[in-house]
Amino acid sequence: MISIKNILTLDGTHADHEIASQEDRVIDGSALLLLPALIDPHVHFRTPGLEHKEDWHHAARACLSGGITTVFDMPNTLPACVTMKQLREKERIIDGQLESVGIPLHYRLYLGADKSHFDEIVKAKGHAVGLKVFMGSSTGGLVMDDESSLHAAFSLAAVHGLVLTVHAEDEALIHERQRAYTGPQSVEAHSIIRNREVAIRATEKAIGLAKMYGTRLYLAHISTKEEIALIAEAKREGVTVFCEVTPHHLFLTEKDYAHHGTSVQMNPPLRSQEDCDALFEGIRSGVVDTIGSDHAPHTRTEKDQPYGKAPSGIPGVETTLPLLLNAHHEGKIELKRIVSLMRFKIEEIFGLTPTDDFVLVDLKKRGKIERLYTKCNFSPYADRVLSGFPVTTILKGKIYDLTRLLP
Ligand code: DOR
Ligand code: ZN
Repeated sequence: MISIKNILTLDGTHADHEIASQEDRVIDGSALLLLPALIDPHVHFRTPGLEHKEDWHHAARACLSGGITTVFDMPNTLPACVTMKQLREKERIIDGQLESVGIPLHYRLYLGADKSHFDEIVKAKGHAVGLKVFMGSSTGGLVMDDESSLHAAFSLAAVHGLVLTVHAEDEALIHERQRAYTGPQSVEAHSIIRNREVAIRATEKAIGLAKMYGTRLYLAHISTKEEIALIAEAKREGVTVFCEVTPHHLFLTEKDYAHHGTSVQMNPPLRSQEDCDALFEGIRSGVVDTIGSDHAPHTRTEKDQPYGKAPSGIPGVETTLPLLLNAHHEGKIELKRIVSLMRFKIEEIFGLTPTDDFVLVDLKKRGKIERLYTKCNFSPYADRVLSGFPVTTILKGKIYDLTRLLP
């Protein structure tokens, strides 16, 4: 039994808390806050085939270090995860990696939507966490941009009770804008080519399809003010639509290209401060349902290539909670909201059984992120001084002290 004494709880009172465990431990919680461990609904842990960028040995430690004990992993691996056979094989490989580090992380996998494998959607129910549709292309070759395939995917997901998660960027418009672009080949071009219209058009289309077929639609990494307005409207009309935002669209803007270059190149790209503010407003008003890190690491060498060659994506699983705790410190978000966005709402949308995992937070701890566990070993937030850090994560009754090196 783990017995935590006199810990601050989310309702502002101090209480003792007990967690079933093989270990017999008493923790003095008087300087700490108890939160349920978080879920990251959007990660790319790169297994199989891209383990030079990330693997579950590194990523599992990164999760614990960020107070996260459950993740949903995306299908744009090598090969892409587009059949249930591949999904089960992927689980086998992941289980091996997790076992070798002794971290029994909870995870669920996405099935990738692919027009040659519509029959797989039927088999995915109850096993895959959802169906991922890349309406616009990103890392990997998964893309579904033709009308008839999109109709089929939305309709099948609705009939077979799968959450359909979209990467909403309009592929045709991206190509059109790429061809028309004549400006400098610097990373700033990324936000110009994949502009707000690219995202808005796809989000609008996805909402229309969800409305037509009654699909449970989860819009990943929403980045613009206009999309927040569209989603608010759809929710008012009773469409089953859920909205995720990422830390990078909350805490970085296109001004950050000047300092960070292609290391902050991602899809959808960075936007303006006005968009960041609109996303925070969406959080406060309840239009935004979840926060997902979209942890999408690439090696330093890959990212250091010039714009056009450098891949899109940044890591985030271990920096998300510290950034949000710091935003709380700055009066931008309530603690209860953080837990709703990164735990309760995700359980509700995806029908998860709650875990008995916890994270203990020191709200007064101030400084830079002490170490990164992600294999890519960089973060655009590494130089920020933040207030509020997770210090202990408890996963399946096991205590991980985050002030020491994790196993
Ligand atoms: O920037 C991104 N990187 N966006 C995505 O949608 C995919 C991700 C990746 O897998 O690298
Ligand atoms: Zn992603």
